Amino acid sequence: MKLAPTVKLNNGYEMPILGLGTYNLKKSRCEAAVCHALQMGYRHIDTAYLYRNESIIGKVLAKLIGDKIIKREQVFLVTKLWDIYHEPKMVKYACEMQLKLLGVDYIDLYLMHSPVGVDYISDDDLMPHENDQLRTNDVDYVDTYKSLEHLVHLGLVRSLGVSNFNASQLKRLLEHCQVKPVSLQIECHPELVQIPLIELCNMHNITVVAYSPLGRPKACNPLPEYYTDSKLLALAAKYGKTPAQIILRYLIDIGTVPIPKAAQRAHLVENLDIFDFHLTPEELLQLKIFNTERRIWINNNLYYKSSFQRLSNLSCAFRRCSDI
Ligand SMILES: NC(=O)c1ccc[n+]([C@@H]2O[C@H](COP(=O)([O-])OP(=O)(O)OC[C@H]3O[C@@H](n4cnc5c(N)ncnc54)[C@H](OP(=O)(O)O)[C@@H]3O)[C@@H](O)[C@H]2O)c1
Repeated sequence: MKLAPTVKLNNGYEMPILGLGTYNLKKSRCEAAVCHALQMGYRHIDTAYLYRNESIIGKVLAKLIGDKIIKREQVFLVTKLWDIYHEPKMVKYACEMQLKLLGVDYIDLYLMHSPVGVDYISDDDLMPHENDQLRTNDVDYVDTYKSLEHLVHLGLVRSLGVSNFNASQLKRLLEHCQVKPVSLQIECHPELVQIPLIELCNMHNITVVAYSPLGRPKACNPLPEYYTDSKLLALAAKYGKTPAQIILRYLIDIGTVPIPKAAQRAHLVENLDIFDFHLTPEELLQLKIFNTERRIWINNNLYYKSSFQRLSNLSCAFRRCSDI
């Protein structure tokens, strides 16, 4: 069985350098994908309260642990505090609920999903709106993070991290935190590499996790253009790999940890089969030409548009790095 190598986090824990993303994986598709993934050697699973699949992942884990196929300590389980739980007094409640859903007694890495809080109405109302506007609030992410630190002291969480933070937010957090974040999870793929943010993280020994690493190709959408670029195809031919495998290797070779989502078994197998080659420094440079800073996750997302409007004081996470 092939296992991904691991990277040592700044607190000493090890994280596999490839994870399985689970956004949009629901019900039986989620169950099948996570089960296949763990059986074929994936040891890093990325979920979130927002994804509404923690109980399914928990069920698969319990079954495979019960059947002695894996041990709990072999799986690096990542989940995220959703934005409606940013009020410091809500943080432990949310974490305990997620532990229950996942059926585990600790989370390996707990991320603040975004720096922007949203009003809590109920556990089921994940994006409460008023007059067509998301009800974002001004809870300071530093206060939320301090409550997250408490979870580490309680042993509910091993490592903390943040997601969708920009450079200034990360720097401010580093000035105020006591438990250093081990990881920053950001959108990162050939068209949006975010080099300045990666360099900042490298300076502070914070591991960058690359979300939407494959640029979210879908059966119904055309592939991003770079998939058919001659340079990428030439590398795929040279190494006997697919364009997707070259992209994942590229993200690993520039020091990030990609977490591709895959429901199809063939994709799961392909994405794990990237540990028998490296790209040369010249080849990494060639692939950098695709970095046009095109974001996938901004244009038609009401949530972050409304965050932009209200939270000027927190300088929204989704500005381009080069603007910061
Ligand atoms: N922190 C955040 O705010 C945030 C935001 C977005 C995503 N994430 C995390 O990052 C994960 C990955 O991002 P994503 O789901 O947005 O996009 P992605 O991983 O870039 O793309 C997923 C798509 O790629 C397809 N795919 C997988 N392997 C492939 C291969 N080898 N060749 C061709 N196509 C392939 C999948 O198809 P099939 O499913 O049909 O196999 C799926 O349609 C998420 O699932 C989530 O865990 C975090």
